[in-house]
Amino acid sequence: MENTVPGQGYIPAMEQLLPTSGPVGSVLDLLDGDPRPSPVGRPWVAANMVASVDGAYGRDGRSAGLSSEADREVFRALRACADVVLVAAGTARTERYRRPADAGPTNARLAVVSGSLHLPADQPFLSGSGPDPIVYHPSTADAGRLPAGVEPRAMGGTTVDIPAVLADLYADGARLVLCEGGPILLGQLAEHDLLDELFVTMSPLLVGGEQVGLLGGHGPMHRGLSLHRVLRDGDSLFLTYRSDS
Ligand SMILES: NC(=O)c1ccc[n+]([C@@H]2O[C@H](COP(=O)([O-])OP(=O)(O)OC[C@H]3O[C@@H](n4cnc5c(N)ncnc54)[C@H](OP(=O)(O)O)[C@@H]3O)[C@@H](O)[C@H]2O)c1
Repeated sequence: MENTVPGQGYIPAMEQLLPTSGPVGSVLDLLDGDPRPSPVGRPWVAANMVASVDGAYGRDGRSAGLSSEADREVFRALRACADVVLVAAGTARTERYRRPADAGPTNARLAVVSGSLHLPADQPFLSGSGPDPIVYHPSTADAGRLPAGVEPRAMGGTTVDIPAVLADLYADGARLVLCEGGPILLGQLAEHDLLDELFVTMSPLLVGGEQVGLLGGHGPMHRGLSLHRVLRDGDSLFLTYRSDS
């Protein structure tokens, strides 16, 4: 395979196709250099997802089977730029989330959205480096059942109020919130028109299955997007879209 170095495996050689074409030196410098002005009263919200060409967000129940070394490079670069990594409890449980600082170079704090507060005591993010993750939950949920190692915050009545979560993170000082899914949470951000920037890695795979659609089968909506950047590494495309609104 092109760019495979003995003993090191595959080394991504990213190339930018749009807005200008040419090799990419540092993905982090490229992505960090983009302006992301905070909208009034909330942080800039970016989301990062990987999908197969047929639109699957999971393969055998996880996203790892869709990813690649270049995708992981973009994932790490975005985390390095973010103040908060926002993730839904379903993804945190399935993907065995760790605290961001334990997975790469970032100061971002983890924030988890859960209705059930079903966070088994063996969740990796309950301990580790950096501040305790925030767990946003509805006021009707019993925060007393949460294990140690998180900071519970009630936000909303019977479900978590996602716009209120973003206002709360803004009040904490967060200016870039990076949502890493899953699809149910992404659907709510899109529904509330709170998605400023969407990074989608298009992996050269057809995988079928039922985990299809980055918004998790959310009801119909219409949100216009502008194509901001296209990167390529081999047969993978890295698309950045920004909200039209
Ligand atoms: N391809 C990718 O880039 C990517 C990225 C992320 C995840 N994934 C995949 O997506 C799958 C997980 O998806 P999922 O269906 O579990 O969806 P999800 O969006 O990860 O999680 C849904 C859960 O989040 C909580 N939640 C979300 N919004 C809420 C709200 N407003 N109020 C209260 N709770 C809320 C609930 O947790 P409780 O159950 O605790 O109430 C809900 O069950 C996994 O297979 C994962 O690998 C793929």
